Amino acid sequence: MGEEMKAGGYGLSAAGAGGAMAGPVLAYLPPRPKAYRPKIALIGCGGIAEYHLRAYREMGLDVVALCDRTIAKAEQRRAEFFPEAAVYSDYRNVLQRPDIEVVDLALHPAQRLAATEFALESRKHVLCQKPFVLTLADGERLAALAEKQRLKIAVNQNGRWAPHFSYMAAAIRAGVIGEVASVDFTLQWDHTWTAGTAFEEVHHLVLLDFGIHWFDMAAQFLRGRKPERVWASVARTAFQKMKPPMLAQVAIDYPGAQVRLNFNGHVRHGQEDRTVVCGSKGTLRSAGPSLSEQTVVLHTGEGQAAVPLEGTWFTSGFQGAMGELLCAIEEKREPTNGARNNLESLALCFAALASADSGEVRVPGTVRAVRE
Ligand SMILES: NC(=O)c1ccc[n+]([C@@H]2O[C@H](COP(=O)([O-])OP(=O)(O)OC[C@H]3O[C@@H](n4cnc5c(N)ncnc54)[C@H](O)[C@@H]3O)[C@@H](O)[C@H]2O)c1
Repeated sequence: MGEEMKAGGYGLSAAGAGGAMAGPVLAYLPPRPKAYRPKIALIGCGGIAEYHLRAYREMGLDVVALCDRTIAKAEQRRAEFFPEAAVYSDYRNVLQRPDIEVVDLALHPAQRLAATEFALESRKHVLCQKPFVLTLADGERLAALAEKQRLKIAVNQNGRWAPHFSYMAAAIRAGVIGEVASVDFTLQWDHTWTAGTAFEEVHHLVLLDFGIHWFDMAAQFLRGRKPERVWASVARTAFQKMKPPMLAQVAIDYPGAQVRLNFNGHVRHGQEDRTVVCGSKGTLRSAGPSLSEQTVVLHTGEGQAAVPLEGTWFTSGFQGAMGELLCAIEEKREPTNGARNNLESLALCFAALASADSGEVRVPGTVRAVRE
């Protein structure tokens, strides 16, 4: 008779207590180029540009041009971060400068498409904000254009270098928890700061503009496996004033694995952001009151380890997205956050949006655009 039966615990297995241990040392910090220090331009000096520029200043990068169609916004960012930079209101004037090699595009997707194409045609390497594109065809075209021009195009999928996500992905790649069987993302946070901004006009604000980082992490954690089906639904809370649905849930089936995304973007009190990845040999759990305050704990047969991590999403994330592009240019290889790789994350996201709109299960890859 098993131990659990004797103890009156029929149907229960040992919880696998395990003592404290040190977590494995893994490379999770944002990469930095060895010597490549090109002149960089930032196009779009809105809200998120602050975090781009803070990260680049910390990395010692050479930002020489700032552009916003409202030139006062470019001037403000110049005063805050790179006082020597030139400012522009028309990005075509920035892209004419032969000394600029790398362009960071922090525009909304609809305005970004033409600017990205123009940047590649002007022979600049490009870092694109997320969501990268609104149709897979546009993304494929931009990736092909970059290849034809022998340039690199990367997507600012900065969550990949958020310390907790970066460590978890590195641990999974190193085989620390064996074969991944389930991934659960559960977030209760307050996204109502977007009321009255351009974001409020995005119907799938939670699943597309915000959720793309989580679809992207699902794709990272299950890299090499092909998702088979996606089901999603969205809802407005009875008490919300904002237009977009603040509630969303998604279930993704992979062969031998399931991923669930649970979002409530209308929570003021008792916020939490939790990620749990269970594998054949162990579990990785990260939790905290927000996406920038996370504690990772690893459980394996050897014991359990609370893993101390450096950085936050908004510092390491923006350093990582640009750092990886610069390393890829320096090392003459494809960036890990390259455009083609991003299309897998977008395919998952687009399938979820179509499922939420139709109530039907969708196959990733068959939904080629945000609106079918
Ligand atoms: N964690 C993240 O990765 C993260 C967080 C927030 C926003 N974002 C993304 O960044 C992008 C921008 O978001 P934001 O919050 O900075 O928006 P925002 O509206 O604050 O800024 C956009 C800026 O682009 C400028 N602009 C528009 N068209 C232009 C043009 N043709 N030429 C030059 N400037 C132009 C606007 O004047 C504005 O200042 C969005 O795609 C958003 O999803 C990413």
